[in-house]
Amino acid sequence: YKQSLLTRKLRIQERKVEKLFKRRSKENLVFGGSEKTMDRLDGPPRLLLVTDLDCTLVDHDDPENTDLLRFNALWEAHYRHDSLLVYCTGRSMRSYLSLRNKKPLLTPDIAITSVGSEIAHGGESMVSDDVWEARLGEMWSREIVLEETSKFPQLEPQPDKSQEQHKVSFFVGREHALEIMKVLPGRLLERGVDVKLVYSNDYAFDVLPKGSGKGGALTYLLEKLESEGKQPTNILVCGDSGNDAELFNVPQAYGVMVSNSHKELLQWHEENAKDNPKIILASERCGAGMIEALQGFNLGPSVSPRDGLDTENFHVEVLDPANEVVQFYLLYEKWRCGEVEKSDKYLENLKSLSSPLGMFVHPSGVEKPIHEWIDDLVNLHGEGKEEKFRIWLDRVSTSLISPETWIVKFDKHELSDGKVRSCSTRVLLSCQEEKEKLTWMHIQQSWLDGSCSDDQDKWIF
Ligand code: GLC
Ligand code: MG
Repeated sequence: YKQSLLTRKLRIQERKVEKLFKRRSKENLVFGGSEKTMDRLDGPPRLLLVTDLDCTLVDHDDPENTDLLRFNALWEAHYRHDSLLVYCTGRSMRSYLSLRNKKPLLTPDIAITSVGSEIAHGGESMVSDDVWEARLGEMWSREIVLEETSKFPQLEPQPDKSQEQHKVSFFVGREHALEIMKVLPGRLLERGVDVKLVYSNDYAFDVLPKGSGKGGALTYLLEKLESEGKQPTNILVCGDSGNDAELFNVPQAYGVMVSNSHKELLQWHEENAKDNPKIILASERCGAGMIEALQGFNLGPSVSPRDGLDTENFHVEVLDPANEVVQFYLLYEKWRCGEVEKSDKYLENLKSLSSPLGMFVHPSGVEKPIHEWIDDLVNLHGEGKEEKFRIWLDRVSTSLISPETWIVKFDKHELSDGKVRSCSTRVLLSCQEEKEKLTWMHIQQSWLDGSCSDDQDKWIF
């Protein structure tokens, strides 16, 4: 009798959830695709994390992206819900997007591209910041910059794809660069053009509008946040080369120069910020150095779920839905990669996280109890090892829909054999009974554009 009562209760709940899913997507409320950056969080961000991409968050020497994936899991489990992620790169928007297709990069809240000369807000659908663009137009003329720079034969123009409305870029050796930097700004100013020159990696020379650069863009963002009453509690900037130096000049910010930083940044630090205790040189490379800084400055959780995963006892201590889903997918990844023993106990443990009545709606539309899907996992143990199988979650958002029920929404990405497939995912979690643990009640997925549905048997959860 007790059992059938529970069944009925669950059915009623499921129907409620279905309705809720529909209503929410209609109103575009919690899960709207066009959310604006600053609006995603109700209050001030706990942390504004601003990071360069190449050789800072992205380690081009690590084809497995180990530290990037460690960072991703940490961010989605513990920071996404109350903090803002800002990418700040020398790449153009197009070049940044092409990097995103090659590396498992999370969706940032804001992308500062072209060495600070462009800012785009808002997660998946990036909207460029017109106010910033208009500001950069003052005392700037591309034509005059091109004319004056052409008088220096040592300046070799970078390819067209690296040139932007507010960024004129060259290749040049250090010595020439230093000489040109002494005279060029004066000559341009005489013609009414006020510039900032940025030299990076011993070869890249950028001419930008005066207020621009990575530091200018970050200062602008901070002003914008402040004007909305959303001044971040903490700021962490992360970088590795010359064009990042300005970020470390933002007074309130903590800063980490990753261990693989270019000597020009270290030299800049030596000359300009040596006595600032808020800036450290990490002992670890790239993403690992960033995690090191989160710990060193005590800015929040600093153990990535990828490091602290307990594969014996799955119980997530606190009722923390975002952390719960991140951990679940890591447990699943470990099984697929054969990094845990092939035992019934492991699968039983996985099952214990969900309700026997919980359903999973596969992106193909096939619907079965979650426990039956877990049974199907038997044949997939270890088969992802050769395929370098990896999972990362992006844009995890949770909303409490009743005092003990959460909906968690996220994009799940799965890499297998060099191919990435992605699903928009919704999970219903509940803590009805013993109050100290979450139970998976319902999972629903749909393919994200571009993801094909071939080989569906290998896609579970
Ligand atoms: C990136 C850009 C390049 C720029 C360099 C330094 O590599 O592609 O145009 O010069 O960053 O800022
Ligand atoms: Mg870099």
